[in-house]
Amino acid sequence: LLNDYDHFMLKEILEQPSSLKSTLNNRIKNKQVYLPEAELFFREHPYQQFRKIDIIGNGTSYHSGIIGKSIMDKLLSFPVEVSLSSEFTYEHGKLSEQHLVIVVSQSGETADSLTAIKEAKANGAKTIAITNNKRSNIARQADCIIPMNAGPEQAVAATKAYTSQITVLSLLAIHLCKKTEEPSPNFIKELIEAVQTLPEIVKQTLVMTEDAIDSFAQVTNDQTNLFLIGRGLDYVLALEGALKLQEVAYLHANAYAAGEVKHGTMALITPGVPVIALATQPHLKDKMVSNIRELKTRDGYVVGITNVGDDALTDVVDEIMYIPETHPLIMPIVAAIPLQLLAYYSGTVRGYNVDRPRNLAKSLTVE
Ligand code: M6R
Repeated sequence: LLNDYDHFMLKEILEQPSSLKSTLNNRIKNKQVYLPEAELFFREHPYQQFRKIDIIGNGTSYHSGIIGKSIMDKLLSFPVEVSLSSEFTYEHGKLSEQHLVIVVSQSGETADSLTAIKEAKANGAKTIAITNNKRSNIARQADCIIPMNAGPEQAVAATKAYTSQITVLSLLAIHLCKKTEEPSPNFIKELIEAVQTLPEIVKQTLVMTEDAIDSFAQVTNDQTNLFLIGRGLDYVLALEGALKLQEVAYLHANAYAAGEVKHGTMALITPGVPVIALATQPHLKDKMVSNIRELKTRDGYVVGITNVGDDALTDVVDEIMYIPETHPLIMPIVAAIPLQLLAYYSGTVRGYNVDRPRNLAKSLTVE
């Protein structure tokens, strides 16, 4: 039901505090993570049997997978790789019962991911599905289902699915971490606390960004091209922001790792070309500032998105949008909010049907 909203996409963006609450429900108690589905699975398939994790997905689910990999890289001591399901099926490395394949799919019906999970199983790998549909075909194939519990997502653009998927992947990383040597008990404690407060932080982000978004959205007016840049997790977030803008505002939006722009893309930066610079990762901010300066020498129009209270970008960008701060590993959840709203407003201002963009379907049941 749309209730008072004009579009499902807006409704789903705004309901993220409650969808995240539901994703987290009963999964953090007394500062500990509880994932009974994973607990049961690892009882049957002891964690020590695995040598490698592959995370696979498409579109937004692939982007959540990359963030999940980065979180696991910080927490676990064995290799985690991430692939597009559509590539994984036909180009995977050696698979065996020592491999754990985690499939991320909101609908649980995407053909590329369904074929990939079948291929993984046929090669002996064990499989976990992170999905919003426990009764889907992908869920039926998986050895273990970890539900996202985000509630139905109607708009073609994935919004609340993205934030719930990263949340589940964080919980799974923390759960797995209990079974290996921990990076440091304090690190885990801080991460759990941050994950637990996500619904509140996302609520604050919506309040902070909603007022500013109208003027922010004007950056896309009369533009056909737009660049998003970031480093580390901000680069992955840039990929997701670009996908949303392509999908609902039909903008030629492209994401680049900020350090790569000078290796070719800089030739496209002419006066006034809009660039969204994401700078939420504390250890990468200085490098971001120098990358932004390079864009400014070509007169690109740079809009920065950074944490409130941080003035590193103030003097180098044309416009700035502040968002609340949380643990850097889960900042891609918080920083996704202004990008989702930007895509929504840019699409509606152009008069497009943001819930049903042209040429796209909610679940893609052909490869
Ligand atoms: O249902 P799935 O998560 O498997 O769908 C994967 C992609 O098709 C999906 O995320 C798509 O990229 C979204 N429309 C992006 O907003």
